[in-house]
Amino acid sequence: MSVVLVLDLLLMVVSAGLWVAAWPLRDTRAGTPVLIAAVLATVARVAVVVVLGRAGWWFLPDRLVTAVPLTLAAVVAGIAVTRRRKAAVPVLIIAAYLAVAGLAMQLVVGYPVTAGGLVAVLGPGAVALLVWRLRARTARIAVMAAAAVALLAAGVTAAAGSRLPDRLDHHAGHGVSVADLRGPDRPPTRSFTLTARAAVVTLPSGKTVDAWTFNGSLPGPELRVTRGDLVEVILRNELPDTGVTLHWHGYDVPAGEDGVAGVTQDAVPPGGTFTYRFVAEDAGTYWYHSHELSSTAVRRGLYGTLVVDPAGARPAETDLVLPVHRFGGGVTVLGGSDRRETRDVPAGRPVRLRLINTGNNAHRVAVSGTPYTVGAIDGRDLNGPTPLTAETTLRLPAGGRYDVLFTMPAGAVHVMVDGRESEGLLLGAGAAPPHPDGTELDITRYGRPAPGPFGRYDKDYTLVLDRLIRFLDGVPGYAYTVNGDVYPDIAPLMVDEGDAVRTTVVNRGTDSHPMHLHGHHVLVLSRNGRPVSGSPLWLDTFDVLPGEVWQVAFRADNPGIWLDHCHNLPHARQGMVLHVAYRGVTSPFAVGRRTPNHPE
Ligand code: C2O
Ligand code: CU
Repeated sequence: MSVVLVLDLLLMVVSAGLWVAAWPLRDTRAGTPVLIAAVLATVARVAVVVVLGRAGWWFLPDRLVTAVPLTLAAVVAGIAVTRRRKAAVPVLIIAAYLAVAGLAMQLVVGYPVTAGGLVAVLGPGAVALLVWRLRARTARIAVMAAAAVALLAAGVTAAAGSRLPDRLDHHAGHGVSVADLRGPDRPPTRSFTLTARAAVVTLPSGKTVDAWTFNGSLPGPELRVTRGDLVEVILRNELPDTGVTLHWHGYDVPAGEDGVAGVTQDAVPPGGTFTYRFVAEDAGTYWYHSHELSSTAVRRGLYGTLVVDPAGARPAETDLVLPVHRFGGGVTVLGGSDRRETRDVPAGRPVRLRLINTGNNAHRVAVSGTPYTVGAIDGRDLNGPTPLTAETTLRLPAGGRYDVLFTMPAGAVHVMVDGRESEGLLLGAGAAPPHPDGTELDITRYGRPAPGPFGRYDKDYTLVLDRLIRFLDGVPGYAYTVNGDVYPDIAPLMVDEGDAVRTTVVNRGTDSHPMHLHGHHVLVLSRNGRPVSGSPLWLDTFDVLPGEVWQVAFRADNPGIWLDHCHNLPHARQGMVLHVAYRGVTSPFAVGRRTPNHPE
């Protein structure tokens, strides 16, 4: 689908260019070839739109408004020109206009097609028609001037309306405050201190990273606790001039511990502290990161890993936590190292590798030298995972975690990221086993099914992801939108405690969007209309590829105000953030120019 969406965009731009050229060139030698090319591009585009339509209605309305009439114009223009009729000129003008309008329709209006969007795109054509028909010169000028003023006013209003106010209290009101939805206030069984500070960190290859760190290290300290622990983490901020918070990615803490600046707390200023407390009830692999200026902070190093071990004696297992991270300048580290690391593991020993993607883009991970299983995804065990070989690769989405399990063989095992054979992690002795070309594991068909908990749904929402031209804080840009809007204008998903909530997520764009819901795990119901046929998948981050439609469901069992956003954090910064808000829960915190909070 990704190819189809790119082709669609390409054909749209090319056919617009050709139709605009066809009119002035009509009487030259280039006229006929350009017109033929325009007709062909238009017909090809119709074929592409038909393919897109099979993915769902969401891909069609904006395209139908222009693609269909443009096709008619193309056919008429073709006939008219071959018969040398005078009708050709108006038809060519209409075709050129519709081609450009089609571009605008898709880059500005998107889904859903609103009345305002239609007026903005088709209005200029109507005005032009009117001006052309008017006899009196003054009337023409008056109509043109009125249209220009209306356009300008609309633009200025939109720009001004998008400016972040000094203080935006999204969720003020009466009710339970997120500030009161905190972890238990009793002495912790485990306590950690994480100090955010700037440091120049030297990686094992000798390269240096000018980083923001927790406790001076990259990644930050591995927090390892046992199920049942009351965990306390004291955050101190020693960064020179930026705020910081701690968000427990994938760990479903009480709302007041979620660490989102402007939603669940104020960003901790330089010199400040904040204490987080939660009971570790769910064993599994998680991570933490700052959620103040997260698109900058996480990339620069304000991240680390959180592992909750099951209660009872720890098994005699080699258990390695391997965050994959990409710093600015393209340096990728696996578990903190940017070169090949080796580790002795005796044959016969059970091994658990906790792969965590702390970057913005998916990574392809391959394990060679042993059959292995994916035992857990996003901190939740899979049901009946079957053995895989090096011929299967894993697509680890931004924010996601896979637990890879195997028994150490006599030879070596190699973990490779993004096809870089000379790097990665080598376990055991001997040469690195080769990596055959692999196909990607389809997690929706992996493992054994089990009955799900949902019967009916109390709420049903649809999120259509796209890339559209929008004002972001007063500045126009090519933004990342949900249902046509950008943060903070995207309507929150309102839920009541206890609701079963179903959400359909549609990606109309050409980028993939790893969607992350705070405070909950979602059960994947289907992808592209095909129900999950493998193990139940409880994810906190699911990667919606271009053209894909995912249906997921969650139980509203953790009252609060929660972020739901793309974990390609620059996408979040460019608009792709909304809230899931429980009715009756309020927040005393705010974002805006005169607050310390800039969560993305
Ligand atoms: Cu790991 Cu809101 O993010
Ligand atoms: Cu995204």
